[in-house]
Amino acid sequence: MKRRKFIQNTSLGSLGVVAGATALACKSESEKEATTLATDKEEKNIPMVIATWEVPNAVSKAWSTLQEGRTALDAIEEGCKVEEADPENQSVGYGGLPDRDGNVTLDACIMNSKGDYGSVVYLQNIKHPISIARKVMEDTPHVLMAGMGAQQFALELGFEKENLLTEASKAAWEEWKKTSEYKPIINIENHDTIGMLAIDKDGNISGGCTTSGLAYKMAGRVGDSPIIGAGLFVDNEIGAATATGMGEEVLKTVGSFLIVELMRQGMSPQAACEEAVRRIVSKNPNHKDFQVGYIAVNKKGETGAYAIHEGFLATVHQNEKMKTYAPEYHLTGP
Ligand code: GLY
Repeated sequence: MKRRKFIQNTSLGSLGVVAGATALACKSESEKEATTLATDKEEKNIPMVIATWEVPNAVSKAWSTLQEGRTALDAIEEGCKVEEADPENQSVGYGGLPDRDGNVTLDACIMNSKGDYGSVVYLQNIKHPISIARKVMEDTPHVLMAGMGAQQFALELGFEKENLLTEASKAAWEEWKKTSEYKPIINIENHDTIGMLAIDKDGNISGGCTTSGLAYKMAGRVGDSPIIGAGLFVDNEIGAATATGMGEEVLKTVGSFLIVELMRQGMSPQAACEEAVRRIVSKNPNHKDFQVGYIAVNKKGETGAYAIHEGFLATVHQNEKMKTYAPEYHLTGP
């Protein structure tokens, strides 16, 4: 019964058209603001790093990796590892909130400038899924490994098997079990799922995405983050995009691929992020109940960020400066 209620209460299966109501007003000042860190001189926009949410430590680490002359791919792995190791971040890696059965299960993917991609889903007891995703990409003939097979691969590589459920996350889960009610909390649940994009000094783009997924999800649930085109997409000729928030909605609209394709057609990263949000909003009468946020960068190093709801943040390091900012929110309608 509870399980049925869980499925009904989520917005996951609901599709519909919002009757003439919710729509993005129009292009706004945010398009201009999103590129404030970029100057007219393209070369100054690069190298750069952008990540979802307020993650200065992760972005700093990625930036310093680029400053050492290393690749965008290295920067992504190093940056994402910072959040994966942080027990205070309860949406990623060590300390991530568990599924409804108390298991911490992690998803991650990484994509390089050549269009190669590696991913792990439902990985348990390994602190750095982003590194395993990279190994899948570089050391196997596959692109996606799941569950026990992915864990076995990690152990064979020498990664340590660890208990990732911290006392704080266990206590939160025990508290949740008192009601077992499932209701995503906008900008709280998922708020630290990290998507990161970087361009190195050679102008090559890479991206990564890592998460423990929705808190108290059904056992076996996998979201958008490790799925190419949904949680992340990189095309080195055009740009890159990544997502955070309700993965089911990102999956259904293949959001990151959509954003890159919109940029290919000439949209700015900001306009493309807004259009991807618009697609979700227009199909979901219940969009008020969940959050989805996107960030994007084009080949010039111009950035974009947008989300369904206020509260979404992006952190950018560009032109020697780091800044966390909230994209201007301009959804209108009931
Ligand atoms: N966006 C993360 C997830 O839904 O799992």
